[in-house]
Amino acid sequence: MGDAPPICDYEGSDYRDRFWGGDCRTERIALRRLLPSQGRRVAHLGAGFGRMTGELQGYDQVIVLDYSHTMLRDAQAHLGRDDRYIYVAADIYHLPLADGSCDAAVMERVIHHMADVCAALQRIRAVLAPGAPFVLEYASKRHGEAILRYLLRRQTWNPFDREPVSFGPLYFNFHPDYMAQCLECSFETRRCLAVSYFRLNLLKRLVPLGVLVTQDRLMQPTGRIALYSPSVYTLNVAVGETPPAALDGPLFKCPQCGALLETEGDELTCPNGDGRWACQEGIYDFRENLGPKKTRRQRRTQEQRRSLAQVSANEATM
Ligand SMILES: C[S@@+](CC[C@H](N)C(=O)[O-])C[C@H]1O[C@@H](n2cnc3c(N)ncnc32)[C@H](O)[C@@H]1O
Ligand SMILES: [Zn+2]
Repeated sequence: MGDAPPICDYEGSDYRDRFWGGDCRTERIALRRLLPSQGRRVAHLGAGFGRMTGELQGYDQVIVLDYSHTMLRDAQAHLGRDDRYIYVAADIYHLPLADGSCDAAVMERVIHHMADVCAALQRIRAVLAPGAPFVLEYASKRHGEAILRYLLRRQTWNPFDREPVSFGPLYFNFHPDYMAQCLECSFETRRCLAVSYFRLNLLKRLVPLGVLVTQDRLMQPTGRIALYSPSVYTLNVAVGETPPAALDGPLFKCPQCGALLETEGDELTCPNGDGRWACQEGIYDFRENLGPKKTRRQRRTQEQRRSLAQVSANEATM
């Protein structure tokens, strides 16, 4: 797939154990403030183990998309195998969702792993219907603690500098102006919330969590005037055109050529021969391309093998 940007792979990570049952009230408040509570099809991108997916219950269909199989299996265990949830293992830089096929999208705590922010945002814009809301959370580099540390010379990087700061491989914090500029190409930003002003260990030890959550709720709308919080929630609306009525059409497209995929049994196939992708145990797996479509003869041989295997299984149980 050419020079694809690198992916932060969460396979085998302990993210779930660290966050399972953790307090995410401030994030939930922000999401509820920004995302319409109902709709037809919402894409939860980089959904992880589904920590926040429960907030999307008002949608007829929820695409739970993540690159990590581990995360998706945890999400299945957490959210269940309800038909409303469509689990997809895929890379956000190569989204396999048809253009204009979703009427909302949410992505929190993910873009800080992306080296090419503009490319990711363009892919996300493409899967949205015109005017659809996209709630994006990002980690800001211009927050109180970073500013204080910089002024006290305990930190070398400048929180006012517009370029992203990197804390290690595929881990970035962004300046609000940088993010605004990246968003501008594909979206119109309507609202910004300043979230997690009180995410400081000392404060958490001294002040009851409920009090901090209330304070956070009150502070969030100040993001309209000034953004100095470590986390920023934005509401963006998709500008420009995408195919009309795509919400009613096929959901998946070829991550390579963009053609709509054809369904054959448990497989999705590119009509241009780019490959096939399977749905296994309730997860559409776009990480593994099963190769070009089989010829009619190959399919017949495969069917014969399957029926032979069935015969021997039946004999074994007799
Ligand atoms: C810090 S976790 C956040 C998970 C979830 N959004 C939450 O807030 O709990 C980051 C998630 O982004 C996913 N991710 C990172 N890069 C990705 C990419 N290029 N495509 C799809 N998922 C990606 C990881 O697999 C991981 O589950
Ligand atoms: Zn294709």
